[in-house]
Amino acid sequence: MSLNKTYNTIVGGVEYIDEGARILKEGGLVAFPTETVYGLGADAFNERAVLSIFEAKGRPQDNPLIVHFASVEDVKMAVSHIPDVAYKLWEEFSPGPLTLVLPKNDRLPLVTTAGIQTVGIRIPNHPVALELIKKSGTGIAAPSANTSGRVSPTLSAHVYEDMVGKIPLILEGGQTDIGIESTVLDLTKDTPIVLRPGAVTIEMLANVLGKVINHKGEVVVAEAPGMKYKHYAPICPCVGAKSVESALKVYAENDGAVIVGRDSFLKDIPACIKTRSLGESPKECMRSVFTLLRELEKEYKYIIIEDFSDKENYYALYNRLKKTTGGVVC
Ligand code: TXA
Ligand code: MG
Repeated sequence: MSLNKTYNTIVGGVEYIDEGARILKEGGLVAFPTETVYGLGADAFNERAVLSIFEAKGRPQDNPLIVHFASVEDVKMAVSHIPDVAYKLWEEFSPGPLTLVLPKNDRLPLVTTAGIQTVGIRIPNHPVALELIKKSGTGIAAPSANTSGRVSPTLSAHVYEDMVGKIPLILEGGQTDIGIESTVLDLTKDTPIVLRPGAVTIEMLANVLGKVINHKGEVVVAEAPGMKYKHYAPICPCVGAKSVESALKVYAENDGAVIVGRDSFLKDIPACIKTRSLGESPKECMRSVFTLLRELEKEYKYIIIEDFSDKENYYALYNRLKKTTGGVVC
């Protein structure tokens, strides 16, 4: 496939799915409908084919592509490790408008992921897409099927506008149901992070994960916290703070918050900010921590607590607080 070639672009319905699968297997490009927007697909494991996606879209080569599969089982073709939370999320939201960022394996070429060691994986909820993927027998790398920088296509006519002459086949699927691109969730970090919001909302994710960081870097917890946490969890959201500055930032963003830490952590915080001390020595802090959390969860809506992860003598305290905060540090 080369852009030096001009194609007589066909727009065809389900009767063209076999033809689409054949083109994909031979390294060509096929645009296809998904429930979010139309995608511009290539065999994710064929470097040349993937490169031609970047060419056809005029897409910068440092922007990774999402790889689409027809089933959870097939995801293993591209991924080196699948955490348990991924299975939980797929159970709830797949097939559907959710892309999970996971560690890639060595089989998947680096061009597909724009040189990074993770890959976005999605199982689209559209019969044409699923059939095409199954028949091609591979993972399909597919960005939205627009020229880079243009509005994402929700009709085959939009794809035609941008891709006519550049690709051989556009599969027709009518207007896409959801109309905006999938939610992208990075599962390779300590706490899952939403990189792009979408139809699977932050709240829906928080209800499965307990805690998630939204695309603005704010922590969102499940509506019923306590549900997920069996140990040491207060009934209100609780996050760790690496520094006084980050504690104050989170404080400003959350009504009814309190900052908790050692005397030395709290000493420069202005008096108008609500704070409570754990004491100073490891012994004092351990003695006070649970009592204080019990008290504060009733009094405040949000607890920001000094992070002890890199403080050697406070390891036992940190061990408990890690569960309290779910490992979330701001
Ligand atoms: O709904 C959708 O996701 C559509 C349909 C076709 O599936 N696809 C789509 O692809 O919107 P694209 O390439 O237009 O957007 C993919 C987004 C980009 O913002 C990209 O940076 C991000 O996902 N992305 C992909 N892989 C990633 C990775 N490994 N790490 C972080 N971000 C990634
Ligand atoms: Mg796009």
